[in-house]
Amino acid sequence: MTASLGNGFRGSRVVGLGMAVPDRVVTNAELATTLDTSDEWIIERTGIKERRIGGTTRQLAIDAGRAALETAGMDPLDLDSIILSTTTPDRIIPATAGAVQAGLGARCPAFDVNAACSGFVYATILAHAMLIADAERILVIGADTLSRFVDWNDRTTAVLFGDGAGAIAMEATSAEGNALLGWHMGCDGSLEELLYSDLDGYINMEGKEVFRKAVLVMEESCRRSLEKAGLSIEDVDVVIPHQANARIISTACKRLGIDIEKTVQILPWTGNTSSASIPQALTEAQRQGRLKKGSNVLLVGFGAGMTSAGALIRWEL
Ligand code: UT7
Repeated sequence: MTASLGNGFRGSRVVGLGMAVPDRVVTNAELATTLDTSDEWIIERTGIKERRIGGTTRQLAIDAGRAALETAGMDPLDLDSIILSTTTPDRIIPATAGAVQAGLGARCPAFDVNAACSGFVYATILAHAMLIADAERILVIGADTLSRFVDWNDRTTAVLFGDGAGAIAMEATSAEGNALLGWHMGCDGSLEELLYSDLDGYINMEGKEVFRKAVLVMEESCRRSLEKAGLSIEDVDVVIPHQANARIISTACKRLGIDIEKTVQILPWTGNTSSASIPQALTEAQRQGRLKKGSNVLLVGFGAGMTSAGALIRWEL
């Protein structure tokens, strides 16, 4: 599914962002004390040096959401919706977004979206659609605690994941002020077995095949988002990719002809935080002063499902 602008009368823009990470740092060296792995292997094959572990999906989401609302100067009571992207809810029933709403002191509708590591971009596009309909203010959060579903004795997955949350506050604008210029969402359900966890199980992954497909779907989501925005690769100022593996990011950028210097990478210290990785990287990019007013920022995610999503945002903060 692909689309560009809204209904011609309204648009959306990002007005605040924030992130949260657990305190507990697990280094590669620490993992190597219990697993047959090494700091060198993990850094060379993934780019990850350490990850943050712990907390609950709801508390991380509340902390990131509160930070985004504060940046935006937005009162939780003025929110029209909270959308929480998570693949690791605290409970099967109800959705974790309700606990986040209560924790933030909001009263609005709140619901979860699960499209694995693409989920935050899916949720951002959904928020955009609601804002061009008639909502005024929406909080979009990506939060995951994948460490609960990792088999810590399996070196092929244990070294990859971390916990955390990131969030953006969005508001409605006129069509001229619209900042979500183009987007793309994809899913190939026939690839489910490449990456999954049963309800009471651990993450199972065919790493090499996920890597191969990830590069292809990232490229497709980027190209189709740009096409719908009427922009070209050269117009992209900053790329915020899903933070799974530095080699996936560099391979996709090479295929697209995007300078790797345009990417934001926080995975050396966060690991793969699934739904949280893109809003966390976005928040970090803002902190580093890499997002200038008018910059074209390309978000791109891929994940279990197998899903993918891209969104081209003109930065307005
Ligand atoms: O959000 C999406 C989540 N998932 C992903 O993005 C994962 C995508 N895939 C990847 O990132 C990579 O495929 C991995 C990092 C998972 C693996 O890297 P690779 O370069 O594809 O390694 P490989 O699976 O081909 O394994 C090469 C060797 C194997 O040993 P042998 O058979 O050659 O003797 C593995 O058993 O490396 C071994 N290996 C390890 N060695 C040390 C696998 N994991 C480890 C490890 N430490 N942690």
